[in-house]
Amino acid sequence: MAVSWVSVAFLAATALGASIGLSFLPYRTPSLETTIKSNRIMRILKRVSAEKLIIEKSICGKVWATVHSPAIRLGVGRNLLDAIELNWDFSSCANFPNQIGLFDSRPTSWDNALAVFPIETIYGHIVTNISLGEPDLPAGWQSGGGLRGPHCLWPWVGAGDQYITTFNCLKIQPTWMEDYGDKINKLRIGELAIAGTHNAGAWRFETEISTVSRDSFVLCQDRSIWAQLVYGIRYFDFRIAYYDFYPRLEDRYWLNHNLIRVRPLLPLLREIKAFLDLTKEVVFLDAHHFPVGFYDPNGAPIRSVHAGLLELMHRELGPHIATATQYHTGAGTRGPTLQTLIDNDKRLIFSYVDNTIVAENNWLWPILPHLWANTNSPTELLKYLDRAIGTSPQPSARSPMFSAMAQTTPTVLDILFLRGSLRENADAVNRNITHRLATLWRHQANIVSTDFFLANDVVDLSIQISVERSNKL
Ligand SMILES: *[C@@H]1O[C@H](CO)[C@@H](O)[C@H](O)[C@H]1NC(C)=O
Ligand SMILES: *[C@@H]1O[C@H](CO)[C@@H](O)[C@H](O)[C@H]1NC(C)=O
Repeated sequence: MAVSWVSVAFLAATALGASIGLSFLPYRTPSLETTIKSNRIMRILKRVSAEKLIIEKSICGKVWATVHSPAIRLGVGRNLLDAIELNWDFSSCANFPNQIGLFDSRPTSWDNALAVFPIETIYGHIVTNISLGEPDLPAGWQSGGGLRGPHCLWPWVGAGDQYITTFNCLKIQPTWMEDYGDKINKLRIGELAIAGTHNAGAWRFETEISTVSRDSFVLCQDRSIWAQLVYGIRYFDFRIAYYDFYPRLEDRYWLNHNLIRVRPLLPLLREIKAFLDLTKEVVFLDAHHFPVGFYDPNGAPIRSVHAGLLELMHRELGPHIATATQYHTGAGTRGPTLQTLIDNDKRLIFSYVDNTIVAENNWLWPILPHLWANTNSPTELLKYLDRAIGTSPQPSARSPMFSAMAQTTPTVLDILFLRGSLRENADAVNRNITHRLATLWRHQANIVSTDFFLANDVVDLSIQISVERSNKL
């Protein structure tokens, strides 16, 4: 990738620039002098607003901020959580800058850096000892719809020599599909690159006995479904279980990690609904495993339990659901374009792992293949995914999409002997996943689902790759 690129918030030159400009346009026929003056003012304003909205800049290469998933031990009983990591990749450049720093606003001078580190390799990362903390989601997105476009959280990363030449921020991408719609809407859903989360609902216990938010082997995420959507995640891998001891049907469906109950399903469906109501984004929901309560001991689906879930989905999300028989383009194809889904305002694709149930319900999308290595070894995981992504999609696949499950799976012994944790496992692969997606997987990956997604750059990279693919059409 020899091209250098400067990404400017899409608003800068268009919507905002124009609206600021407009208020300076005189409504009477202007004299030549005022026209020249107001044009100059507009130009200056546009430049100022464009500069204010630049959230990422690079002459060559890239820097990005991530969040370290494991806790860092500082001493007895003192842990540093969510340390900010600074990452760089200057492998496409003739030479690389000599330092990188963490900032709490757009980097303009090294004097303002919170921490500065030397760069000694073309590609690498630093784990700082500064925590992300618990900042609200910016631009109004904390608990409802906010401003369109990407927006920065507080951490910024900058690199350069005497001057800072490359910078970026940790950002949310709540409306990326709409922001880049004029390009990517012509892509079919199977041609997009999309960031997903493995076991998306396992982000904090919410049961009668626990509200724990960090553990070793159950929780795979640490952001709510709402926050995941706001950060730019568009695919959720859900593991749904059924417990008949709740009186109300709607309370019986839970999100699990295997046999462990994590949180009730209904509030998550409402978060997805709120997001779909407020935006023009398309969301992919995948009921991929039913670990408890959906099957007879002989393996036959329990019809009433499946029906109850489908009813709940319909009640909560019905108007947004894209009926499979209406929008699917058939086996071996890449599915509808984003444009088709958006034009018809059907922006939720619900895929279901059980073929029998899919055959009986025309709105369900067929089983979405998971490329799952089932290994606890990072090397094996990457080897498997290199091959599996390289040979996907299968020529006659029934689903237009496929998901690379980019996390290792602990063995029973790992869990019994408390060897490692899901956070450490994620830490051992997330940077490699970012690198693979930027290189080997770049042309063929569709959905890439990870654990603790703030520790990789899959959201931003996927957006960039989708735009790239649309440019080639
Ligand atoms: C944190 O890192 C800074 C350098 O960035 C160092 O000066 C400081 O001693 C570190 N603090 C701790 C508690 O490790
Ligand atoms: C992951 O990336 C690091 C740094 O580039 C590399 O040293 C390591 O070998 C990679 N891991 C695997 C399993 O390929």
